[in-house]
Amino acid sequence: MTELQNRPIGVFDSGIGGLTVVRALMERLPLENLIYYGDTARVPYGVKSRATIAAYSAQIVEYLLAQRVKALVIACNTIAAVAGDAIRQQAQGLPVLDVISAGAQAALHTSKNHHIAVIATNTTVNSNAYARAIHAQNPDTLVRTQATPLLVPLVEEGWLDHEVTRLTVREYLKPLLVDDIDTLVLGCTHFPLLKPLIGKEAQNVALVDSAITTAEATAQALAQAGL
Ligand code: DGL
Repeated sequence: MTELQNRPIGVFDSGIGGLTVVRALMERLPLENLIYYGDTARVPYGVKSRATIAAYSAQIVEYLLAQRVKALVIACNTIAAVAGDAIRQQAQGLPVLDVISAGAQAALHTSKNHHIAVIATNTTVNSNAYARAIHAQNPDTLVRTQATPLLVPLVEEGWLDHEVTRLTVREYLKPLLVDDIDTLVLGCTHFPLLKPLIGKEAQNVALVDSAITTAEATAQALAQAGL
């Protein structure tokens, strides 16, 4: 093992939601050391301006680079959507993986009718990052995106199986289901916690949770880089 191979992987999110990615990484790469940065002091990011998110993300990356990480995993859709490119520049050539690239890839593999929907924060939806990532690989795919800002506070409140959450999800999904989607990307770190409820409201629709695909992409990137 070289000194470089022994270094930790830096994983970060606006809060604790990215721990779903950490769990997947621990299962896929059990011998790796991880440093997790969850910005619980300043969460949520999904309602902040692009400039603020970029500035906060740059601070987190600076911290993780100072910990001498060998790779970075952006475990936050909002950060990946607005600051992914800047973070790749700041990372000085280290592998940088993110939930949007992995989620888009997984959605393309999952969908059979090429009708994919994405639910995410306002910032992620406004950035159009998911549609760009999906269309870069298959321009003929129908991509419907829906901002679902009420779901983050409902999850934070712990209302994972609550009538209010069920009605909110139903309302948000209505316009998506009309378009005959067969795949729904949970484009926010909080939403995997709502999987059982969303699954009931979107029957016959495959739910994509990018944690596992991000872990797989990380394993491949490390292997390719000899890390
Ligand atoms: N982590 C954010 C995301 O995945 C959701 C929470 C927030 O708004 O900060 O988009």
